[in-house]
Amino acid sequence: MTINKKKEKGVKVVVIGGAGFIGSHVTDALVTRGFNVHIIDNLSGGDKANVNPKAVFHKADIRNLEDIKPIIKGADYVFHFAALPRVQYSIEHPIETNDVNVGGTLNVLIAAKEGGVKRVIYSASSSAYGDQKTMPLTETMIPNPKSPYGLQKYVGELYAKVWSEVHGLETVSLRYFNVYGPRLNPDGAYALAIGKFLKQRKEGKPLTIWGDGTQTRDFTHVSDVVRANLLAMESTKVGKGEVVNIGAGRNFSVNQLAKLIGGKVVHEPPRIEPHDTLADSSLAKKLLGWTPEVTLEEGIKELKKEFGIKD
Ligand SMILES: NC(=O)c1ccc[n+]([C@@H]2O[C@H](COP(=O)([O-])OP(=O)(O)OC[C@H]3O[C@@H](n4cnc5c(N)ncnc54)[C@H](O)[C@@H]3O)[C@@H](O)[C@H]2O)c1
Repeated sequence: MTINKKKEKGVKVVVIGGAGFIGSHVTDALVTRGFNVHIIDNLSGGDKANVNPKAVFHKADIRNLEDIKPIIKGADYVFHFAALPRVQYSIEHPIETNDVNVGGTLNVLIAAKEGGVKRVIYSASSSAYGDQKTMPLTETMIPNPKSPYGLQKYVGELYAKVWSEVHGLETVSLRYFNVYGPRLNPDGAYALAIGKFLKQRKEGKPLTIWGDGTQTRDFTHVSDVVRANLLAMESTKVGKGEVVNIGAGRNFSVNQLAKLIGGKVVHEPPRIEPHDTLADSSLAKKLLGWTPEVTLEEGIKELKKEFGIKD
């Protein structure tokens, strides 16, 4: 990636959801590159402690279009991470999650178009695939979401593409596959497997596996996702609503993941979820020049250190 700090100095970018896990890492990278970074977050799931002090923080809710319009106005790039991102929560709260994940995304697109933004980089999700007959998952497959969350994230992609086609706003959607890394939130009923396992291991509790643990996931390190976002901002090959997989390209069963983290396991009843995910990221290579760099073994080693877990 060629870095031209002079060009970037003072250029306004807005990171929506910048107090969250992935958004805060992208903010750090943008600040390092010299951008004038503004964050929009309502702190419903994020943490102010994650917010880079060199970024301008705006506590605002994407459900309120008039609140976010003036913040987005005049930005060159908008990174849209804000969401209620838990599958189970979306099953229990379909209206609230739809308001944020679909209605909020629509507001972001409207504000970006009106505010003269050059490009919106939308955080899409592999959950749009649901169960498919073959692996790896490619962007040409017909989405088959198995939860309101997966459906809502997919609708966000479609809205982004329509805004490119109808309004000429540049957009690109990055479909992330199970992102993990530093600042992963290990708490709460909806915590993702890696964070939950690390916390349980640290507390000397058995790791709780839903179902038989043969379900597989393509775990992707957050630093690779950050790089994908910056490349998506700069690439001349995207901007028309393209959908691009961002996944490590190796899948591990939940049982294998538990082994990497270590300790005893207990099994709980299965959840409604796709059995497998595995990204074909060849389009990301072609359009963004992106390939994954961090292996799960390396990433887990780093996280165990962060959690103070010794083998
Ligand atoms: N983490 C993953 O594995 C993963 C995988 C695929 C896609 N994604 C997508 O990536 C994005 C970021 O995910 P994350 O893991 O960093 O989640 P996160 O919950 O850590 O971050 C989301 C942020 O959005 C904010 N937010 C929520 N509702 C808001 C609202 N109404 N107005 C303003 N801010 C609001 C939250 O406070 C939080 O800071 C989401 O769009 C998610 O759907 C994540």
